[in-house]
Amino acid sequence: MTRTASGAAALPTLAALKASGRPIVMLTAYDYPSGRVAEEAGVDVVLVGDSAAMTVLGYDSTRAIAIDELLVLTRAVRRAVTRVPLVGDLPFGSYEHSDERAVATARRFVDDAGCDAVKLEGAGAMLSRVRAIVGAGIPVIGHVGLLPQSVLSPDGYRARGRDAEQALAIVTGAEELEAAGCAALVIEAVPAEIGALVTERVSIPVIGIGAGAATGGQVLVYHDLLGLGEGRVPRFVRRYAETRDVLVSAVRRWADDVRQGQFPSAEEGYGMPAEEMAEVRERLDEAV
Ligand code: KIV
Repeated sequence: MTRTASGAAALPTLAALKASGRPIVMLTAYDYPSGRVAEEAGVDVVLVGDSAAMTVLGYDSTRAIAIDELLVLTRAVRRAVTRVPLVGDLPFGSYEHSDERAVATARRFVDDAGCDAVKLEGAGAMLSRVRAIVGAGIPVIGHVGLLPQSVLSPDGYRARGRDAEQALAIVTGAEELEAAGCAALVIEAVPAEIGALVTERVSIPVIGIGAGAATGGQVLVYHDLLGLGEGRVPRFVRRYAETRDVLVSAVRRWADDVRQGQFPSAEEGYGMPAEEMAEVRERLDEAV
């Protein structure tokens, strides 16, 4: 089992939560404030998802984020998250090509950013990567169903596993990932029936996102849950706040106040003893 400097332990927590029958609550976070919010709100696991590429860096897909960019964000979240396990997401291009590369990247997320586990997408050729990373002592969370890093495939962001062939591939992939040593699975955008079937067929925790209510837990993207992003969100998102509207309105009111001379007030600044100010003026006048 891997422990971070914080002492948080990933696997026993996930396994214990599954054993308790209580759904596991996982949330993404991308910086110190979102990490603090997630922990204070009592989530069980924090994931620094490569969705950061889109939510905080403005790229048009998760494929664009570089390891170093994600590591900076992950370190910031680790500084905020000290009581629950932190999962790092291996970015596109950082693990697929060889087991050695996969282990080296995973080590950076653990050693340089303090992660308790890493997540990677896919089964098939990735099974060997999972075995290698687990063999290096680093817990791995697999990801099946819709794989955002493969969004260039003809199905794009459409739900997966809606026909028997795709569904079977997802179930088989999940079973193989468990056999390869994964500590848990994320399953994304599949019919509720397939979320339930995978959950039934593996013994590790299955955390769903758009995979129905029968999985062993749920994960959502911070910006989606809080209404912080722009544009459409997938149908599986439930918004618990419209934070972006609150922020835009607050900034707009401040800008109006500045333009109308109503900000700052005297109380929002620093005063100076009149005699000191008089001396400043006197000495400036003398200098002329
Ligand atoms: O990157 C991410 O945020 C994810 C979650 C959607 C599970 O992989």
